[in-house]
Amino acid sequence: MKVTVVGAGAVGASCAEYIAIKNFASEVVLVDIKQDFAEGKAMDLMQTASLNGFDTKITGSTNDYSKTANSDIAVITSGIPRKPGMTREELIGINAGIVKEVSSNIIKHSPNVIIIVVSNPMDTMTYLVHKSTGLPKNRIIGMGGALDSARFKYRLAEALEAPISDVDGMVIGGHSDVGMVPLTRLATRNSVPVSEFISEERLNQVLEDTKVGGATLTKMLGTSAWYAPGAAVSGLVQAIACDQKKIFPCSVLLEGEYDLNDICIGAPVVLGRNGIEKIVEIKLSNDEKEQLQTSAEGVRKTNGLLEV
Ligand code: 2OP
Repeated sequence: MKVTVVGAGAVGASCAEYIAIKNFASEVVLVDIKQDFAEGKAMDLMQTASLNGFDTKITGSTNDYSKTANSDIAVITSGIPRKPGMTREELIGINAGIVKEVSSNIIKHSPNVIIIVVSNPMDTMTYLVHKSTGLPKNRIIGMGGALDSARFKYRLAEALEAPISDVDGMVIGGHSDVGMVPLTRLATRNSVPVSEFISEERLNQVLEDTKVGGATLTKMLGTSAWYAPGAAVSGLVQAIACDQKKIFPCSVLLEGEYDLNDICIGAPVVLGRNGIEKIVEIKLSNDEKEQLQTSAEGVRKTNGLLEV
């Protein structure tokens, strides 16, 4: 299993590190446009191999995509991250051109690749990859819901004063501060609805904290987060590489599901060796349906800024 990670910044390096530590991939190739940067990150990571006990071979390349040839999975993290006070949507001008070029370079050398999009605004960048490459929809996956759900579970565990392993929950909709739809109704602590343990007011606070999860960290760190995004991507890559058939909410091209068409937005999907193997349509309440439609309107507005 060969995995390419484009962009060796904090998110890309963190992806590579988590993938390597989980020890399921034979090879990870990091690519960056900055001279020797990916090579340096790869070397540093390889020097952790004996300490962290992995055999994955990590190499770096300065914009030479021939090194990525025959990748099974490619992760696109390239582009600029947001700065404090910025929305993800404001990054579209610069990131659209980069993502388009990167995806075309990847496919040139790996025609059968499955692409995972991380660059922001993530749902629109996923749609752009769909429009510009023509890859089948099962091979284009936007990471967002997996990360937002991890943040949701973190906030739920905090509110419940429970271990995170006891908590389950999912965030669908767009990967934006206003567009996320955390499904509080379906969240559980060891199979019991979380509403049995905490007040509606506290649950609303969890919901709000989840939606601004990325913005809160951007304010604290001066740039966007990397550990949780890297870990979320590694979970998606592992589910595909190991054919796990796990359900993650991911940005996926919808064609009628959830009454949405021609849009990439977060919905639960089954991930296995073929990428997105199934879009899972869960029964939403009227309120959740409405929130998802509003979220989709926001994503469409950003998609409208694309020149495809
Ligand atoms: C975040 O929410 C990178 O969009 C990503 O942290």
